[in-house]
Amino acid sequence: MKSTSTRLFALLLLQFLTIASAPAQNTTAPLTLEAERAKQEKIYHGRGELRLEGYVIDRSLSAYVRALPGGFAQSLAHLGPEERWLDVGAGQGLAVLDYYAPEYDPRQAGRRERQIKKGRSVAMSIEDRRTPRWQQTVDTVEPKQLHYVFGKSLREYSVDELGRFQLITDVIGGFSYTENLALFMEKLLSLLTVNGTFYTVAQDVRNEAGSNKPHYAGEPFLSQIKTASGEDIGICAWLKKISCIEVSCEYKGDWTPPLETYKIRKTCDKVTVPQLKADRYVAGTPPERVFLMNSPAPAPVPKP
Ligand SMILES: C[S@@+](CC[C@H](N)C(=O)[O-])C[C@H]1O[C@@H](n2cnc3c(N)ncnc32)[C@H](O)[C@@H]1O
Repeated sequence: MKSTSTRLFALLLLQFLTIASAPAQNTTAPLTLEAERAKQEKIYHGRGELRLEGYVIDRSLSAYVRALPGGFAQSLAHLGPEERWLDVGAGQGLAVLDYYAPEYDPRQAGRRERQIKKGRSVAMSIEDRRTPRWQQTVDTVEPKQLHYVFGKSLREYSVDELGRFQLITDVIGGFSYTENLALFMEKLLSLLTVNGTFYTVAQDVRNEAGSNKPHYAGEPFLSQIKTASGEDIGICAWLKKISCIEVSCEYKGDWTPPLETYKIRKTCDKVTVPQLKADRYVAGTPPERVFLMNSPAPAPVPKP
C-alpha cells in the first residue's frame, strides 16, 4: 500500500493540484466539508498524470488474496454459478477480471474441480475505470455474468437495482473512502445474503488489541471512531456492535502502513448499525476520517 513518502507526496501534489486549478479564494478560510469533497472528487476523477500515485486502481486478484482476511480465496473458489460477488470500489476491476481469466485455478484454494462454471460479479466504482481488457473479458463470458457499475457511491444504490450477493469485498474502496461509515455498512449488509461474507481492510487504524500506534509519527490514525469522551475505540470494536453479524478482526502489522482486516458473516436479516457522525474528513488516498459515536441516551431520572 502506500509509504510515508507517498503519503506526503500525495498530500503535497493534492495541494498543488487544488491550488493550481481552484479559483482564487480566501486562504484563511477554514477547510469545509464541501471543500474536502471537491478535492476528493478530483482524486476520484484524476487520470493520466493527474492520478495521484497513492490512488491505486489496479490491484490484481492475488493482491486481494494477500490483503484480505484468510478465507476470501476459498469463498471465491466455492462460489456457485448462480451465486454473486460484489467488489465495492473496484477501480479497474482487475481482481474480478483475473477471476474470469482461464488461468484462474480454484484448486489452489481447495476446490476439487479445475473446470467450473464461475459465479456472477459486479464491480463498482464511483468513476468509470474500465480498460479494453474489461470489454475483452465481457465478450468471453455469459451475458449476465459480469457487470461494471459506476457514477455513484454504494449508499446511493438500492437492493432492487443491484440484487443480493453471497460474497462482497472492498480493498481500499468505499469502506476506506466513505464519509458515512454507518450508512455504508447499512447498505452493504442489506446487499449481503444471510450467511454471505464481507471481506475488507483498513489501513493505519487502532487495532482490536489497542497495541499499535499511528504509522506516521505525529499523525493520527487514518480512521478513528470516537466515543463521547474522545476515546478512539477502533473500527473493529465498532463493527462488533452491529447486530446480526459475526466479525473477526486480524492485524497485519508487517504491512506498510499496517492493515487491520475484517471478515464479516451476516447471520440474520435484522441488522442494526450504530449510527456515527462525521467529525473530520480530509481528502486523501484514502481520506483521514474521524467518526463520533452517538452518546447513549441519558438514563431516565427516577421519580421521587
Ligand atoms: C483506491 S481505488 C481501489 C481500487 C481497487 N479496489 C484496487 O485495489 O485496485 C478506490 C475505489 O473505490 C471507489 N469508491 C470510493 N468510495 C466509494 C463508495 N462510497 N462507493 C463505491 N465506490 C467507492 C473509487 O471510485 C475507486 O474505484
